[in-house]
Amino acid sequence: MAARIQALQGDITTLEVDAIVNAANSSLLGGGGVDGAIHRAAGPELLAQCRTLGGCEVGEAKLTPGYQLPARAIIHTVGPVWSGGLEREPEKLAQCYRACLDLAAGEGLARIAFPCISTGVYGYPKRPAATLAVGVVRDVLAQTPQIQQVLFCCYSAADLALYEELLDSGA
Ligand code: APR
Repeated sequence: MAARIQALQGDITTLEVDAIVNAANSSLLGGGGVDGAIHRAAGPELLAQCRTLGGCEVGEAKLTPGYQLPARAIIHTVGPVWSGGLEREPEKLAQCYRACLDLAAGEGLARIAFPCISTGVYGYPKRPAATLAVGVVRDVLAQTPQIQQVLFCCYSAADLALYEELLDSGA
């Protein structure tokens, strides 16, 4: 049985999983980075649907279909913008991961892939973010059997090396 928590390098829009997580902004109306890639790959129906959702708070998660993606669904979340660690960024980032996993469990989305939320445009330092993400996912999966597998989809080799180090260390 493959490990319940894995890391891989690639483009999250290509993953054939139940849900991919989008690192969105509070408008949910698209942007750059992974948000832009997901909107491009999912097609225009995604934006039309997002317009009906009324935005998303930091740490919250909202669900849409995957449309033209191979993934069945998209879970949109808004990570904290890094501002030196003085604005409860770790708490807010942890809340993103928890909210996405709770939503996935509730919707029967058993295999879910995360990007490295907040570590691009939002400037969250990569190692603290990855350490927090692995810790939260481990905690939640220990109590949430409905989630069968979590994939950390790293866009860069550096991110992948970081997640593999963290996953090996706590194996
Ligand atoms: N697949 C997987 N990961 C990706 C992809 C992709 N196709 N494209 C980018 N990434 C990675 C980035 O390399 C980074 O590691 O996603 C991670 C998150 O970076 P951003 O996409 O910049 O997201 P974030 O830092 O959370 O900033 C969110 O950026 O795009 C806007 O609308 C978005 O305003 C919001 C902000």
